[in-house]
Amino acid sequence: MHDFDVLIIGSGAAGLSLALRIDPSMQVAVLSKGSLDAGSTAWAQGGISAVIDEGDSIDQHMADTVDAGVGLCDENAVYHTVVHGKEMIAWLTDLGIKFTREKGADGKSYLHLTREGGHTQRRVVHAADATGRAIQNTLIRAVSEKAHIQVFEQHITIDLITTHKLPGAPGAGTKNRCVGAYVLDTGKQRVETFRARHVVLATGGANKVYLYTSNPDGSSGDGIAMAWRAGCRIANMEFMQFHPTCLYHPNAKSYLITESVRGEGGRLLLPDGSEFMHEFDSRGVLAPRDIVARAIDHKMKKLGIDCVYLDISHKPKKFIQQHFPNVYARCMKLGYDMCREPVPVVPAAHYTCGGVMTDLKGRTDVSHLYAIGETTHTGLHGANRMASNSLLECLVFANATSHEINADNRPEAFDWNIPPWDESRVTEPDEEIVVAHNWDELRRFMWDYVGIVRTTKRLQRAKRRVDLLISEIDEYYSNFRVNGDLIELRNITLVADIIIKSALSRKESRGLHYTLDYPGTNPELEHIDTVLDPNTEASAQKQRAWLPETNPQTVLFRR
Ligand code: FAD
Ligand code: SIN
Repeated sequence: MHDFDVLIIGSGAAGLSLALRIDPSMQVAVLSKGSLDAGSTAWAQGGISAVIDEGDSIDQHMADTVDAGVGLCDENAVYHTVVHGKEMIAWLTDLGIKFTREKGADGKSYLHLTREGGHTQRRVVHAADATGRAIQNTLIRAVSEKAHIQVFEQHITIDLITTHKLPGAPGAGTKNRCVGAYVLDTGKQRVETFRARHVVLATGGANKVYLYTSNPDGSSGDGIAMAWRAGCRIANMEFMQFHPTCLYHPNAKSYLITESVRGEGGRLLLPDGSEFMHEFDSRGVLAPRDIVARAIDHKMKKLGIDCVYLDISHKPKKFIQQHFPNVYARCMKLGYDMCREPVPVVPAAHYTCGGVMTDLKGRTDVSHLYAIGETTHTGLHGANRMASNSLLECLVFANATSHEINADNRPEAFDWNIPPWDESRVTEPDEEIVVAHNWDELRRFMWDYVGIVRTTKRLQRAKRRVDLLISEIDEYYSNFRVNGDLIELRNITLVADIIIKSALSRKESRGLHYTLDYPGTNPELEHIDTVLDPNTEASAQKQRAWLPETNPQTVLFRR
């Protein structure tokens, strides 16, 4: 049994920046299921959006975000995020991050601002093309200097512990409260109980639900699945973002080529060398991501080609090597010289726009349970996230959540009656192939049936398959000792089900959700989120339960 004031599950930009902002009088635990840099943060390339340039404004950053979000952004969340951009860059700079700078005409040094899709201004602050690595390393170093923060690597959270699921739980009508989590120490292969007054999900996205993704392996939607099982509403999961330009190479494992390559003049070409983006949008290669990814997908399917090409070879070699040293080196290693030739690219799953519903303070539906970062739905991204708004959201919402937690710093007895993890009825797994097979099957049909272009028929096919997987995994989970792969598979399958249900319920095309059966955008659905509520299901309360037997209701609600 571990006792902490604050338990933060996740050690990316969201989790670590929150840890650093918690009052040092409180004891903080940070968990990562891998190493501390296992999440997407360390992989981020382009940068962080912030209004820095004199010609830019908060209003313009808001307008671009809302435009990219196609009628679904919550303008309160957009304002709340964007208005803090400059302050967050200053905070990171104070921690020691060296963002790329350039000399102005006056001889002074200024932050270099790059551009990405959807931004009408240069407003992306970056550390060359490895901004995430700079942020992750700096946060890890800062956390290591704080005595009140304890980190636990190779600790994968299985489930949240909430008062409504405890033996002798208070009756209906009492507010469900999160009081900790069951966590598997994958080194010792032992399930431990963490008790905490405040619990925060900072577990990143769910993009590994697709066969091809730009994300690290751990993006299995654990936080979304755990929040669902704890009773939180999940919103807008049909909006899964595909990044237009991942390197197309068998050994690249969907290596991203940052959008700032296009921001600095890169062009998208068909195999015959012709440009095509202006056929789809007057902003060309700098249109928002949903439009560019869909245009590429359309061309690939229509022409029967395996990839398109990204070309920046018309720029000076020195410029390319200075701005994109890591991308350049990686492409070279795989046999492509960006300075001399176009590189082959394809879209891949990149970002989870929906997630655990929170307010502007990171609060969820369950008391003392917060969520921050990519695992959330805050209302910022709407139907399509604008590039480089994600790291900003992590930092801003971590800050807001820290205020909320720090304000509730009172002594409290940990007198909840939490039973230890029960393994008395499980045995060692007998057929690991079930887990490996189901992982592959899930990611393949999600790619084929729930990808960039959808139809109702394809979604229904996917639904039938996911139902089958759910019952198989449920049985396996109930009978065998848990391990990391099984925990992630259980979560990602639940998230897949939520994605499919959300997609089926949105009968229009908007932003990242494009369906041939409803190709138009319905103006009546502007500002209407897709919200799935687990509380309409009695069986969702069962401990170690898999999914409710019947479907939860899909609720469309107007803010
Ligand atoms: P992550 O950084 O993904 O961290 C998740 C953490 O949760 C990890 O520590 C993980 O171990 C832990 N975790 C998960 N599940 C469990 C569990 N069950 N138990 C314990 N721990 C768990 N965004 C931008 O704004 N700008 C960019 O330039 C940019 N570039 C990107 C490039 C790439 C290749 C990728 C993949 C993403 C990029 N993004 C970018 C998106 C951005 O990086 C992510 O949205 C952001 O880093 C998410 O941060 P996070 O803290 O929410 O989660
Ligand atoms: C990129 O560098 O292209 C990724 C930016 C982002 O996802 O915000």
